[in-house]
Amino acid sequence: MNHAILEKNVILLAVCILITVAIGGLVQLIPLYTMEQTIEEVEGVRPYSPLELAGRNIYVREGCYLCHSQMIRPFRDEAERYGHYSLAAESMYDHPFQWGSKRTGPDLARVGGKYSDDWHVAHMINPRSVVPESIMPGYPFMAETELDFGSAAEHLRTLRIVGVPYTDEQIAEAANDLAAQANPDEGDVDALLQRYPKAVVGNFDGDASRVTELDAIIAYLQMLGTLVDFNEYQPEADFR
Ligand code: HEC
Repeated sequence: MNHAILEKNVILLAVCILITVAIGGLVQLIPLYTMEQTIEEVEGVRPYSPLELAGRNIYVREGCYLCHSQMIRPFRDEAERYGHYSLAAESMYDHPFQWGSKRTGPDLARVGGKYSDDWHVAHMINPRSVVPESIMPGYPFMAETELDFGSAAEHLRTLRIVGVPYTDEQIAEAANDLAAQANPDEGDVDALLQRYPKAVVGNFDGDASRVTELDAIIAYLQMLGTLVDFNEYQPEADFR
């Protein structure tokens, strides 16, 4: 009974467990080093525009992820409610990602385009004005708070360090692009759209005279899940 030797010697048992677990770990890890990309690239996915990024920062700052997930799981009920399941590529430029682990409110991965800007304005200021039974807190101060975007270019530059492929041009034009997206009548929208295809432009909060935090968060919400065209998308492997 060789096994009895192992069972009676705790150190030997520990060493053998370690070796077994290490082999299991290596089998999982080594293939990843031989792959060039662990995320399958998908057409349409691009880095966030400066205004979307500012909105995303507010989303993180306010802890929206504590009540909202941003990951549609590949199950039928989820896909029927929220749309196509989330692809890894759709959060490849997220630092940090916002998948979340709690859904007090619905998943937001594809909320872009689901409602009008006006709906979002009303909802963010007081959710009960559009969804009477809502338990979401209101964020009326966002409509009053001007967006501080002096560091927009620096933020893009920082993200480039961790691998988001912002170009020099995108960094240099960050503040202009941000202003143009929130006030399309005065900015160079064509240049913005060339740098950030499908960016949603508008006076999101209805006030063109200044850029508020509400503009930024709505610009972010309105683009979530809209970059990939699922009529065209062909997965390399389909897990449904
Ligand atoms: C205390 C939990 C909670 C927090 C925090 C919270 N929400 Fe919500 N949210 C909800 C609930 C519940 C709903 C569903 C009812 C409603 O539409 O108001 C909801 C709905 C939404 C919807 C509509 C989604 C849909 O598909 O109908 C959006 C957009 C949204 N929240 C954005 C945000 C943003 C942005 C933040 C952070 C600034 C945030 N929420 C913070 C609970 C929360």
